[in-house]
Amino acid sequence: MSTTALIVAAGKGERAGGGLPKQYRLLGGKPMLRRAVQALASHPAISKVRVVIGSGQQALAQQALDGIDVGKLVEGGEERADSVRAGLSAIEGEAILVHDAARPFCPPQVIDRLLAPLEFFEGAAPVLAIGDTLARASDRLNEPVDRTGMVRVQTPQAFRLAALRSAYESWSGATPTDETTVARAAGLTVAAVEGDPALEKITTPRDFARAEEWLLSRLV
Ligand code: CTP
Ligand code: MG
Repeated sequence: MSTTALIVAAGKGERAGGGLPKQYRLLGGKPMLRRAVQALASHPAISKVRVVIGSGQQALAQQALDGIDVGKLVEGGEERADSVRAGLSAIEGEAILVHDAARPFCPPQVIDRLLAPLEFFEGAAPVLAIGDTLARASDRLNEPVDRTGMVRVQTPQAFRLAALRSAYESWSGATPTDETTVARAAGLTVAAVEGDPALEKITTPRDFARAEEWLLSRLV
């Protein structure tokens, strides 16, 4: 199955601060977007990588991706889902991996785990168990929230391209935060595979600091 990776990098990175949209900030001396792209491009099953960027980010993206073949940069939209839609209409192939630039360290084993089920399922997503107790923020913590069977869903998420496209076409709810939400609503079969802590999303200044520390710890 020919597989294209679509990396959405059209956000503003407001929660991360730092002056520059976070995907262009350096992590261990390399732009986060470049790391996210290289992690996927280096997997033998991925034949193409395409990147969705924000309007006005052309120069930043070209600089961050210097020397890497990502074809023509795609312009994203207001919300992440708009950026994914823009990407979906710009790519071809049989399978797609949709991934956040804000998750720069994708282990190749996760990609193996995601692509294997596509023979039988229309999609697959990496999940991690929830270790903490759950509660509703608005109550006085007196309403139990059962975490049995609950998981956190990461990206990349893998789909047969035609199936994900038609799921997005039939989506009529509020802005979805990921593709499994859209796929589930359209009745697609999505396999859950084991995620990885290295795929944690980088959202806040603290996440940047943690990622820098983690990179340093891998050097020793
Ligand atoms: N994204 C996108 N288009 C948007 C919004 C987000 O392509 N309109 C991308 C981001 O670039 C990121 C991923 O979706 O790779 C996950 O979004 P998030 O972590 O929320 O990033 P930002 O939206 O950039 O950050 P913030 O919400 O703090 O502004
Ligand atoms: Mg956002």
